[in-house]
Amino acid sequence: MEKTLKHIAIIMDGNGRWAQQLGKERSFGHRQGVESVRSVVEGASEAGVPYLTLYAFSTENWNRPKQEIELLMQLLASAIENEVPSLKKNNVRLKTTGRMDTLPEVCRQSLMKAVEDTAGNTGLTLVLALSYSGRAELVDAAKNISRKVAEGTLSAEEITEETLSKNLYNPDIPDVDLMIRTGGDTRISNFLLWQLAYSELYFTPLMWPDFRKENLFEIIESFNKRERRFGKTGEQVRTQ
Ligand code: IPE
Ligand code: IPE
Ligand code: MG
Repeated sequence: MEKTLKHIAIIMDGNGRWAQQLGKERSFGHRQGVESVRSVVEGASEAGVPYLTLYAFSTENWNRPKQEIELLMQLLASAIENEVPSLKKNNVRLKTTGRMDTLPEVCRQSLMKAVEDTAGNTGLTLVLALSYSGRAELVDAAKNISRKVAEGTLSAEEITEETLSKNLYNPDIPDVDLMIRTGGDTRISNFLLWQLAYSELYFTPLMWPDFRKENLFEIIESFNKRERRFGKTGEQVRTQ
């Protein structure tokens, strides 16, 4: 039986090490990583996955050397410009998550335009996590909720898990079913903390620039073999 797989989230890690292993600059790895994004977006569409979130830049990544940050922002702006036609052709809807107001103006403008231009598409929803921090998202949700309580439109007793979900950056996107991290490290690095609560985790030693849709298909196959119990017993789940 096919498992429900609505949302895949990927921590695209290992660009720098991949390049350094080849004796090249880290920037070479970031450029090559754009190819992987293209392949994986295609693959997710082909596999019929409704939502794909890609972790492209974390709030902590602002602490990298200025030169590397500038290159990543340039790559982002040019990738958006170059890829929008194929997103449109493939019926992909683009969305973002994170503190967009901290991105350089040129990136924010082209992202906003791409989001607008693809808003009517009905295929894969591609969410780019940019200047994203899971904790910051929860802090922002807490602020929104507190405002409503202060205004008197919500009482503290009425706050449920759903209230919190509805105050996240993208309240209509379902929780993550499968989280993949490339690059060999086994950590979450402040990614979708709330949305990952019951997600299946998959860590691969492959560096992001080497990752292609075929690797995604293999991981989806392995996900389909896992038993998600959500706190129940195996027997309960199998007789459902
Ligand atoms: C992921 O690759 C891309 C970003 C975090 C922007 P890294 O740049 O983290 O590559 P490694 O982990 O240093 O190899
Ligand atoms: C996580 O990768 C963030 C992105 C892939 C955008 P990092 O390379 O920043 O993570 P750490 O610092 O190794 O945890
Ligand atoms: Mg890294």
